[in-house]
Amino acid sequence: MGFVITVDGPAGAGKSSVAKRVAKRLGIRYLDTGAMYRAIAYTLDKKGVAPAENGELTRSVASLVVRLEGQGIFVNDENVTESIRSYRVDRVVSGYAALKTVRNALLNLQREQAEYGDLIADGRDTGTVVFPEADLKFFLTASPEARAERRYKELLRKGEAVLYKEVLTQIHERDRADSNREVAPLREPVEAIRLDTSSMAEDEVVNELAFIIQSRMA
Ligand code: CDP
Repeated sequence: MGFVITVDGPAGAGKSSVAKRVAKRLGIRYLDTGAMYRAIAYTLDKKGVAPAENGELTRSVASLVVRLEGQGIFVNDENVTESIRSYRVDRVVSGYAALKTVRNALLNLQREQAEYGDLIADGRDTGTVVFPEADLKFFLTASPEARAERRYKELLRKGEAVLYKEVLTQIHERDRADSNREVAPLREPVEAIRLDTSSMAEDEVVNELAFIIQSRMA
């Protein structure tokens, strides 16, 4: 197992964009665990499988093979890399991510990624459940308004017709669902380095993380 770094935090704290850039700069592999939950949610939602523990869900999850390929993510043979970023998936993903069957299906695939060398993983439970023994843990957060603003701009750039207020409500809703679920809720690891990014530019956050990681790895 290589040097493992985890980056957790609530929706829209900038984890994924930051972690991806830091990973690229330092030449470390990057694992986006949220993309895996999104991939399963997107596929089940499209098939009309409700987010509830029952036989249909268990069978459907068992029939899905999630595969990471370069920067892309596939479910069975479908490339879902772009589709999983829609506002629709934003709204349904937490319902599926709360289910034990879904989480168990992804846990091994996530842990396996650390077997190939150094790794930066980001999500909600990477420092608490997936890699509790990680070498370095971060917790990125920001005010709900700052997070909603970022997500809103991102959706507009993609041409989705959304209202800021709607996105803010959805962010609050996702925070509530992710923090209150029974299985692997969003928690700040006690040993994590906490960064409030509300008034930080993305570049600043990237520089800060890269600096800390480099000093620790040296
Ligand atoms: O990028 P954003 O913060 O919008 O979310 P994401 O990292 O893509 O994660 C999407 C959703 O997947 C979260 O709201 C959680 O419900 C779920 N998730 C999780 O339960 N555990 C993880 N390790 C990562 C994501």
